[in-house]
Amino acid sequence: MQETRNGDAMKTGIASIGIQFPPLAMPVEDLARLRGEDPNKYTVGLGCKEMALCPSDYGVVELAVQAARRAIERWGGSLDDIGLIAVGTETSVDMSRPLSAWVASELGIKGAIRSYEVKHACYGGTLALRQAVEWRLSGAARGKSALVIASDVSLYAQGDPGEPTQGAGAVAMIVGEPLIAEIDPISYAYSEPAFDFWRPVGHDYPLVEGPLSLECYQRATSECFSALIGDNDPEEFLRGFAALCFHVPFPKMVKKAVQRLGESFGWDEATTRFFFEEKVDPTMSWNRRCGNAYTAALWISVAQTLKGLREGERITAFSYGSGFGAELLVLRAGPLAKRGEWANDVEGDFKRRSQIDAKAYAELRA
Ligand code: HMG
Repeated sequence: MQETRNGDAMKTGIASIGIQFPPLAMPVEDLARLRGEDPNKYTVGLGCKEMALCPSDYGVVELAVQAARRAIERWGGSLDDIGLIAVGTETSVDMSRPLSAWVASELGIKGAIRSYEVKHACYGGTLALRQAVEWRLSGAARGKSALVIASDVSLYAQGDPGEPTQGAGAVAMIVGEPLIAEIDPISYAYSEPAFDFWRPVGHDYPLVEGPLSLECYQRATSECFSALIGDNDPEEFLRGFAALCFHVPFPKMVKKAVQRLGESFGWDEATTRFFFEEKVDPTMSWNRRCGNAYTAALWISVAQTLKGLREGERITAFSYGSGFGAELLVLRAGPLAKRGEWANDVEGDFKRRSQIDAKAYAELRA
């Protein structure tokens, strides 16, 4: 690992965060009425609340650019200090040109910079972040920072069971000095090839094996957490974290994953409930307002959770992407976490956005 001049291990992490949500939203109850479903299936059964939606002239590029702009402005560093720009997405607008080129072009970033797109379903944003962290720790960055963006628009075919879980959003992070959070150099990855959720070239919407996707997600959770915990007592070990953040395709998925963890650790019902209610459920408030933002979903939860943490408090971040690949990260809050300035982006976007009704939604999809 790279060392500082006085021989300490170099620390790296998140120096700035910018978030962007699209300008439209719809409560899932309205979708239920449109589809002739009991609204409780969506709100109670899946745990969903609202879907963030994009108007027809707005999409993944606008989300990514605006999130990046916000992260850079808040950071206060110079564009010359950026040596890498990586965008994780599964809403690519081109099979060759990386989404990072659209962002770089809009923001005027060019020069001695590695610029690329990362794809692995919802796991792509985390991979981009991990690569940036490891690039810094290896010394190859030579002190430069990285701009990492996770940006997606999630849409299913009309009437698909996944439709109430739709959403959109982008999170941009400057990876550099660990002012907001230090990212542990060791992480816990797990992957298995599966066709649980995929979108063949030329298809507008994903194909989904719903029950298989739920099973893959839960297995990945169990594998990654077991690797992190090792020989420690799971309850005692996990109580040491202020919160446990997850990829949020819909909140009930996360609850199921925590239940699976409880079963694999032999916890009683009360212990599992404690972990879900105290350490997990509070991390999903922003996710409930935006739906599944694919690559951005985990980082929306992490951003919400970091706000207000005291320096040194630790959280976990579990990333899952269909196909499937997963990785569990450990973050430690830095001095700027408490202020949580990026929450202004979220509160502003939620306040300003327009709520559309089922009729307007049907027109938008048509
Ligand atoms: P479904 O099959 O229509 O729903 O769609 P269901 O029949 O399984 O019902 C869902 C829940 O609602 C059940 O709860 C029902 O009992 C309950 P559970 O038993 O599971 O606890 N329910 C009700 N509750 C109250 N009142 C009622 C009522 N009716 C039913 N009246 C499915 C569910 C998840 C399959 C669908 O939403 C879907 O296909 N989603 C997309 C796939 C997905 O999100 N998978 C999650 C894991 S994979 C992942 O996270 C990756 C992903 O983000 C993509 C990527 O990586 O790029 C998706």
